[in-house]
Amino acid sequence: MIEAFSLMNSKSRVKLGLNIDHVATVRQARGGEEPHLIQAALDGIKGGAEGITVHLREDRRHIQDQDVFELRKSISVPLNLEMSVNSDIVKVARKLRPAKACLVPERRKELTTEGGLDVIAGKRRISEAIYLLQEKGVMVSLFVDPIPEQIQAAFDIDCDFVELHTGCYANAKRKKRPIELKRLREAALLAHRLGLGVHAGHGLNYENVKAIVKLPFMEELNIGHAIVSRAIFVGMKAAVQKMCRLIETA
Ligand code: PXP
Repeated sequence: MIEAFSLMNSKSRVKLGLNIDHVATVRQARGGEEPHLIQAALDGIKGGAEGITVHLREDRRHIQDQDVFELRKSISVPLNLEMSVNSDIVKVARKLRPAKACLVPERRKELTTEGGLDVIAGKRRISEAIYLLQEKGVMVSLFVDPIPEQIQAAFDIDCDFVELHTGCYANAKRKKRPIELKRLREAALLAHRLGLGVHAGHGLNYENVKAIVKLPFMEELNIGHAIVSRAIFVGMKAAVQKMCRLIETA
């Protein structure tokens, strides 16, 4: 009985995908090997991360091609590659064959991914990228704003998951948060009803994560900046452990 309960519990647990882009940001500042990206991933896994996420940007500002291939060989948990639909990046992803890929929009001058994909406008290119990735056994998620039409369009082009963009929720003043949470809740329900897996990420931290964990059908959160920032002071394993405890107790 207890065993059945813990099995149910572990099945419904929301997983943490640790985004380690900013470990590479610090490394690239000097161009050497420190801080060591693989070590950050391994320490994060020891702390409880159930996936490692990296964004191979077109401008290679942090993560490099060699990193993604080394990570793929070195980690025991699924690698999730964030990427644009640029054909050169798709080629790298097809060679890499990560467990998952998350398609995101990319603009050269942005500090970080700014908004969700416009799946409606980019349907043809996005669906081509989905096909090319799935052909190599990669599960594909689309990073979308919590807008019903975008989620419907994501379903129409046969992706496996949507990653709901939590940036507006994270940036909202306290009073506006319930409105953003309602949009996210409705988006999660719609995605699930259509048969898509539900992930979320962007701007999540130790203070705002709990409400997102409680969204219906949430399976995975991808979190980077807040954890890497905390890791500077307490180490990666402890920073991840703290986030995992918040997720588990939400
Ligand atoms: N999910 C996606 C699609 C992203 O682009 C990012 C930023 O790289 C994240 C999650 C993580 O966001 P943050 O670093 O704000 O936690």
